[in-house]
Amino acid sequence: MDIKGIYTPSPERYDDSETLYRRCGHSGVMLPKVSLGFWHNFGAVDSYERSRAITHYAFDHGITHFDLANNYGPPYGTAEETMGRLMDDDLRPYRDELFISSKAGYDMWPGPYGNWGSRKYLMASIDQSLRRMRLDYVDLFYSHRYDPNTPLEETLQALVDIVRQGKALYIGISRWPLEALTVAEQYLREHDTPLLIYQDKLNLINRQPLEEGRLQFCHDHGIGFISFSPLAQGLLTDRYLNGVPDDSRMAKGRFLKRETLTPELTAHLQELNAQAHERNETLAEMALAWILHQQGVTSVLVGASSVAQLEQNMKCVHAQPF
Ligand SMILES: NC(=O)c1ccc[n+]([C@@H]2O[C@H](COP(=O)([O-])OP(=O)(O)OC[C@H]3O[C@@H](n4cnc5c(N)ncnc54)[C@H](OP(=O)(O)O)[C@@H]3O)[C@@H](O)[C@H]2O)c1
Repeated sequence: MDIKGIYTPSPERYDDSETLYRRCGHSGVMLPKVSLGFWHNFGAVDSYERSRAITHYAFDHGITHFDLANNYGPPYGTAEETMGRLMDDDLRPYRDELFISSKAGYDMWPGPYGNWGSRKYLMASIDQSLRRMRLDYVDLFYSHRYDPNTPLEETLQALVDIVRQGKALYIGISRWPLEALTVAEQYLREHDTPLLIYQDKLNLINRQPLEEGRLQFCHDHGIGFISFSPLAQGLLTDRYLNGVPDDSRMAKGRFLKRETLTPELTAHLQELNAQAHERNETLAEMALAWILHQQGVTSVLVGASSVAQLEQNMKCVHAQPF
């Protein structure tokens, strides 16, 4: 930023394009191999200037994809408000260089219409998200989770209509089981809004999308795949190798519980850390590179509580092959 506080992105932000971007499935969209998530560290409880610095670092280094959801904060909605403020302060001139996603599927407002997968909820939620982010449209809108009680066709038609209304350019699905994902792929294709991307948790200690066939399904059907919590919320870094730091997500205790860090898991993480060092990499770099090495993966969707973390994580794009 200059002395007047005006942000000008680095003119070198696309210098590493050949290495950084990957095609998202069989679509026309290129995504950065490392994308930035706003689940934590971008809420009203967080320092705006730190969120802003992380966002600037990302965009300055070619990270064009920012991932949000209606309920990211805390409080709910405030990560999208931070995005809106960033748009006004810094990013609006670069809107066409950005690929911004949001989602609806988890509890967002009280009563029967603020959760799950009904048309009523999705239609209201996209309008709220656009208002908070001060955007005319999102690039990508997701169903955030599978709803076993709403007909899949109701959810899917609402997603199609959101695209038809110009409120989103593409549709994504997150955390749907394979059977429902199969229905979604067909429905969306037949309604001229092919499924762009599937978002699920794949990392070195949770390989379910690989083992249960969802990654293969995406690869076979030309759907991109983006891995959330690729560092297992920080476990696959040097953060917890020697206990629980006071400023860590685990110390805050809401989404990453202390009970997770068993002696067995610590021993496994230490083993992985030693393997990473043999490769001259940090554990975080190796963990991200491993995901990117899996056939069908488009991008790893990292979180970061500091610029230094993001800087380290981005090195994975230059990691040696497995
Ligand atoms: N679709 C879904 O249901 C769903 C679910 C979860 C997440 N997501 C998306 O995925 C994104 C990423 O999720 P996540 O935040 O769990 O990802 P993650 O990358 O696995 O974890 C991020 C956390 O790990 C720590 N960390 C990151 N890099 C580090 C480094 N180099 N060294 C040490 N510690 C490091 C930081 O925690 P500290 O705070 O401890 O520093 C950071 O906040 C979210 O923002 C969201 O967009 C989607």
